[in-house]
Amino acid sequence: MSSEVRRAAEILRAGGLVAFPTETVYGLGADASSEKAVARLYAAKGRPVDHPVIVHFASSQAAFQWGTEICGEARTLAEKFWPGPLTLILKRSEKAGDFVTGGQPSVGVRVPSHPVAQELLRAFGGGVAAPSANRFGRVSPTTAAHVRDDLGADVDLVLEGGASEVGIESTIVDLSGGTAVLLRPGGISRRQLEAVVPIKEKSAWSPRHSGGLERHYSPRTPARLVPTHALDKEIAKLESRAAVLAFSRPDERVDFWLRMPREANAYARKLYAALRELDGANCEAILIEAPPQEPGWDAILDRLKRACGGP
Ligand code: TXA
Ligand code: MG
Repeated sequence: MSSEVRRAAEILRAGGLVAFPTETVYGLGADASSEKAVARLYAAKGRPVDHPVIVHFASSQAAFQWGTEICGEARTLAEKFWPGPLTLILKRSEKAGDFVTGGQPSVGVRVPSHPVAQELLRAFGGGVAAPSANRFGRVSPTTAAHVRDDLGADVDLVLEGGASEVGIESTIVDLSGGTAVLLRPGGISRRQLEAVVPIKEKSAWSPRHSGGLERHYSPRTPARLVPTHALDKEIAKLESRAAVLAFSRPDERVDFWLRMPREANAYARKLYAALRELDGANCEAILIEAPPQEPGWDAILDRLKRACGGP
């Protein structure tokens, strides 16, 4: 084990905050069984205290101890996708305090696959509460530098782990009601889930989750989605300095242009770094070419809509 990871585990034990890489995005971690440590975490993020947070574990065996009445679907999903970009919402056991569940009767658990996350979770031994390591409502970090830019001195240690492989947050599936309900599309696609268990749409009864708020994952510059066929016309209408995120080659009329891959996984990997770059380009507006309406793009479309301020 690296000395850096050993130090990180000690910081967690002492109630401190450690940002660490996962395959989805960087997380801001705290000891999930310490009310004081989790309170510090919420303060650093600027997050409302009634929002639940995902608890991370080294193994599904450890994760399932925080849940109760675990159904067959939960076990099947865990077996298939853990370690990996999937979060399961389970009925909570006595291990999960109100301060991690937002007072709800359920708990969110995940076993990440990133080797540094795995090493940290094994060294620490317990559950690590970790939202994405950004201030509330801002774009999630996919590099250690993003974390330092956003949270700076409010974190005791940032573990380095390269650019996040998946690039968008985990898929969240609620199993607390005995059937699998998709709450947030993410690193595992709906099709991948459906190949394993039947998946239901979320209803008005779904538990509260901040990823469900409109306008989340947002750049500061106003952004809007533009269908491919309207992009040229919208560019022609621009009156101020603008930035564009698109699939095609740069257009000379536009001040700042970022070209994105046509393959969904590659797009997801680049998305948050791209939103940060567009936001840093000092423009009055951001135009984002809408992605194809095809399976595999649902999580990306979800994040883009939120970046643009709502569905
Ligand atoms: O990929 C990810 O999931 C990353 C990495 C760090 O693991 N984490 C992440 O955490 O995205 P955060 O806090 O930014 O988003 C977690 C989502 C929130 O929408 C939260 O409300 C929901 O999970 N959540 C957590 N526990 C829940 C519960 N018991 N019931 C319903 N939603 C829950
Ligand atoms: Mg987040």
